Amino acid sequence: MPNTHRVGWMGRAAAALVLAPALACAQTAAAPAPSTPFATGKVASGEAKAALCSACHGPQGNSVNPDWPRLAGQSAVYIAAQLRLFRAGVRDNPTMKPLASALSDQDISDLAVYYEAQTPSGLEADPSYWKAGEALYVSGDAARAVPACIACHGPVGRGNLAAGYPALRAQQSVYMIKQLNDYASGARYAGGDAAHADPNSIMMLTIAKRLTPEEIRDVASYLQGMR
Ligand code: HEC
Ligand code: HEC
Repeated sequence: MPNTHRVGWMGRAAAALVLAPALACAQTAAAPAPSTPFATGKVASGEAKAALCSACHGPQGNSVNPDWPRLAGQSAVYIAAQLRLFRAGVRDNPTMKPLASALSDQDISDLAVYYEAQTPSGLEADPSYWKAGEALYVSGDAARAVPACIACHGPVGRGNLAAGYPALRAQQSVYMIKQLNDYASGARYAGGDAAHADPNSIMMLTIAKRLTPEEIRDVASYLQGMR
């Protein structure tokens, strides 16, 4: 089960995960948003609740529309964090804001563990672009301080499930291009406080600014074809 999947190699993020519940409890007696969806999330409940979501995110989270992200196999920690950010209006999206606003913390945990348990079905990479994309993914570009994506998103693009670093394999390239541009422009998160609301966002806010449009296109194509 995913909740036993504690990856230790990103020490700081893993430590933050362990510490967060204790801090939240110390701050308030009212039930805080759970920092891990695994404490209460149930796959079967999530499956029932996902009926509405599948209109856009596809059957078992395998969306067929390139504008809509795939959720199959995505980190439950990441999904839960993003749904709370949509609900709070910090991740600024007119489609997801009303949908996420209707979700309770329990709904979010159920949906998150359900989607993590699904398997992404394969998509194809554009043959003109994926080789350059692979080089960037594996090696980065030290001359321009672009780190290798593989360090956080993993050798087969599964991300770091426990730390909430998103999986990118078989993700829609059109969606990823939009996200990388939104990180670079600051449009992904509203206001100037994204780093406070979502400390994980700092990494991509920094990295995406250093990528050229060609690099974004190439690496997104490579990841879309990753199995
Ligand atoms: C009308 C279409 C639609 C429906 C229905 C919908 N979504 Fe979304 N969802 C989107 C779009 C579009 C985005 C990408 C927003 C952006 O560009 O930032 C998104 C993004 C997300 C993300 C972030 C994915 C990522 O990789 O960062 C999650 C998680 C998510 N949706 C979960 C859900 C859940 C759970 C439901 C059901 C309660 C749902 N969505 C229903 C369209 C939809
Ligand atoms: C230091 C770790 C780290 C590195 C290196 C890194 N990422 Fe990320 N990436 C993250 C984290 C953490 C997030 C989620 C950030 C958030 O909460 O918004 C993310 C999010 C993303 C997303 C959005 C996913 C979604 O579903 O919306 C894309 C696309 C992405 N990264 C691509 C890349 C590419 C391409 C590279 C290499 C050029 C890269 N990342 C390097 C940590 C990293």
